[in-house]
Amino acid sequence: MIKFSNIKPDNFSLEFSSLAREKNQNNDKIISFGLGEPYFKPPDKLVKLVNKAINNGFNRYCHPQGLLSLRQQIAKKYSFLEENIVITAGAKPALSILLKILLHDKDEIIFFEPCFPSYRHQIHLANPKAKFIRFNLTKNFSINFSNLKKKINKKTKIILINSPHNPTGQVINEADFEDLLKLAKKHKFYIIIDGVYNDLIYKPYNYNYLDKNIIYFSSFSKVYGITGWRIGYLHSTNQQIINACKYIQMHVNTNTNTFLQKAISDYLKNDDFKIKFRSKLQKKTFLLEKIFKKNQIQINIPMGGFFAFICIKETNLMSDDFAFLLLKKYDVAVTPGVLFGKKWDNYVRICFAVNNKDFNQGINKFIQFYNEKKTQAINSKRIKPLSNKIS
Ligand SMILES: Cc1ncc(COP(=O)(O)O)c(C=O)c1O
Repeated sequence: MIKFSNIKPDNFSLEFSSLAREKNQNNDKIISFGLGEPYFKPPDKLVKLVNKAINNGFNRYCHPQGLLSLRQQIAKKYSFLEENIVITAGAKPALSILLKILLHDKDEIIFFEPCFPSYRHQIHLANPKAKFIRFNLTKNFSINFSNLKKKINKKTKIILINSPHNPTGQVINEADFEDLLKLAKKHKFYIIIDGVYNDLIYKPYNYNYLDKNIIYFSSFSKVYGITGWRIGYLHSTNQQIINACKYIQMHVNTNTNTFLQKAISDYLKNDDFKIKFRSKLQKKTFLLEKIFKKNQIQINIPMGGFFAFICIKETNLMSDDFAFLLLKKYDVAVTPGVLFGKKWDNYVRICFAVNNKDFNQGINKFIQFYNEKKTQAINSKRIKPLSNKIS
């Protein structure tokens, strides 16, 4: 049972939000690297297929697991069986259903920080009596396995991973994936994989999602710019898990939007959109690498998705202040790192799924601001010892 008193407002700086509102009201042109969604309209062909599906009668209830035609398309892509898939109203509901059926009282779930902020809330909503274990990634945003092993015990029920990763853009390599799987088999826990940016991995990886310890979920939100349409899916080879998910879906949502399912299943038969989007994103990562290197700003080049997580330690600013001042002075919005985990206050996230003009202008302004603040930080350090001496 959720206690109302436990529901706290999100700790995004009030100052930042009111400044953004004020700038919007003044019609100031803000370059937004803040939101986690692409800038473009959904593909025309997909929109036409939605209309077609409505006109062709896909307006009624359908199977709670989802339309067979869509499950078949997803099954083909990953070598899944269609009976092992449930179509959900996005990636978030997929995770929410999974946590609801798997997390019992006192079970432990490990997740890696920095992370998508919803995870903490989702776990709490699924079972407030389950225990979540935050595990910080290394400075290179990878997993320190010897530390991780110390966190695993008999109560460990789930390790939740996200690859490509929000907010860092990193992708788990095959060796780490295999090591995690070995641990899951040995200690009998599930690995739940959030693959919401999976179609946007720049270089192909070969993971085994078919193992019974793996549960995979994803969505169509990010790749086609349809974050508001709400459609995603989950997969497990364990039929009991699928039956339980189907049961929740049936009694909470009945089914996911029928005409969207039909439109997407038709669209997936011939989709080159994501390949073009992926390649545009990758080109932007090359530019990021070049510009940041030239300015000697540390950055882990994203390997997938559309986020980069940038260390701002040299500016001596906390992430909230950095985001606020950058918006105030240069009209560029970024997301403070602290939202992705308490220990990540020295970072900000940028979403680079923006058009080329905004990208170039926004990154130049970001760098200019960063360098100004870095110089100020260096100067204030120089002045400090002097003033100490005088006093
Ligand atoms: C890592 C991650 N998982 C899940 C989601 C939610 O996806 P959906 O819109 O399909 O529910 C997001 C959205 O920002 C995300 O970044």
